[in-house]
Amino acid sequence: MRPLPGFRDFYPEDCARRGYLLDGWRRVARRYGFVEMDGPVLESMELYAKKNESGAEILGQLYQFTDRGERDVAMRPEMTPTLARMVIAKERAYRKPLKWFSTANFFRYERQQKGRLREFIQFNADLIGDGSTAADAEAICLVIDLLREFGFTKDDFVIRLSDRKAWLDFLGARAVADTKTVLAIIDKIEREPEESLNAKLSPHGLTVAELREFIAAGSPEYFAPLLEQFEARGLRDFVEIDLSIVRGLAYYTGLVFEAFDRGKSMRALAGGGRYDDLLADLSDGTVNLPAIGFGVGDVVLGNLIEETPHAFAKMAAALAASPSAEIYVVIADDSRRREALSLVQALRDAGWRTDFPLDSVKVGKQFQTAEQLGARFAIVVGNEWPIVKAKTLATRAEATLAQDALAGWLAKNKDCQQTDSSS
Ligand code: HAM
Repeated sequence: MRPLPGFRDFYPEDCARRGYLLDGWRRVARRYGFVEMDGPVLESMELYAKKNESGAEILGQLYQFTDRGERDVAMRPEMTPTLARMVIAKERAYRKPLKWFSTANFFRYERQQKGRLREFIQFNADLIGDGSTAADAEAICLVIDLLREFGFTKDDFVIRLSDRKAWLDFLGARAVADTKTVLAIIDKIEREPEESLNAKLSPHGLTVAELREFIAAGSPEYFAPLLEQFEARGLRDFVEIDLSIVRGLAYYTGLVFEAFDRGKSMRALAGGGRYDDLLADLSDGTVNLPAIGFGVGDVVLGNLIEETPHAFAKMAAALAASPSAEIYVVIADDSRRREALSLVQALRDAGWRTDFPLDSVKVGKQFQTAEQLGARFAIVVGNEWPIVKAKTLATRAEATLAQDALAGWLAKNKDCQQTDSSS
């Protein structure tokens, strides 16, 4: 039996890769002073449907059902409504701005394709209670550094910046009334045939050619202060203006952005923007805080790591440096199993990842297992106990020593290896 379409099993090697992403995301978020939050997987349907802040597209992708208590519920398709709900409930308890991040799984009934699944993981970071350009820059620089953390450079990815305000001014000048619908059409401008786009735009008195002209002009006046912030941090080469980005979610009010691989062969790695009205709308005006944030998905990022040799090598090295066992205790004489067990326990207490044979096995086989597990050291317990043999598996160097001298030997050899690898 297989998992449902769009869902994944995580075997140990998949979990290791997922852990690599989560660890990297958390490390960088903390470097930026963000703290971790989470919410429930299941939410009341009302959170998504009442004001339809996220828009029709995501509403149509909800896994929704009635639970056994007759409640209308939905599996979370994104973090932003949950985050807004949580902030509204306890807004006074926190100093502003809030800098919160999360790593969580989400569910969308999408057509399954490359980079799109029905259950996926996202890192989200949101800065709430600060409407400044400095906050915008902080959020975008965090996206840049999250991607750099995995070994990507400015030649591998780019953040495309846009601003819904520029579009709203453009549409206002043309007396377009239904801006929400037109923004949703613009969102598809790169993906839909010109003919069908024109058919949808004509009731609003617009043509694709006109929109493309506006995109080509780029409206640099909307971005000058923000670009200065990237200049100051030496990150200007990671961003480009691209007004064709408007984002599919309806709650964005101003700056919006997406991260793409330079080859543009994949879907967006990350997307976000400013949503200054969402909290006020969801709280019926009682909590009015500006906000900016973004989400990075694990699927596209994972694909890009696989397809980018230097990023893949970085991941492979990180995973190899974290084997399931660092030390394998080889029991050469099974009559010494009791002593071997006491050693295993002492090593584990000291923090070493330690494994050993559960049953009597030939010594050669035990060494084979040690290699397969990626262990750095083998400690051989035999009838010379309390004298043991300690081996560094990569170099085959070995020492014969009393078991109570082992801690010192391990510390010394661990340090030696670290010095070697950093030189
Ligand atoms: P989003 O653009 O819907 O934004 O998702 C952000 C990222 O999550 C996408 O760029 C993509 O990498 C990944 N993603 C989305 N849907 C899927 C899927 N079906 N399969 C795999 N990956 C997917 C949001 O969700 C906003 N809530 C982000 C945000 C936070 N805006 C403000 N704060």
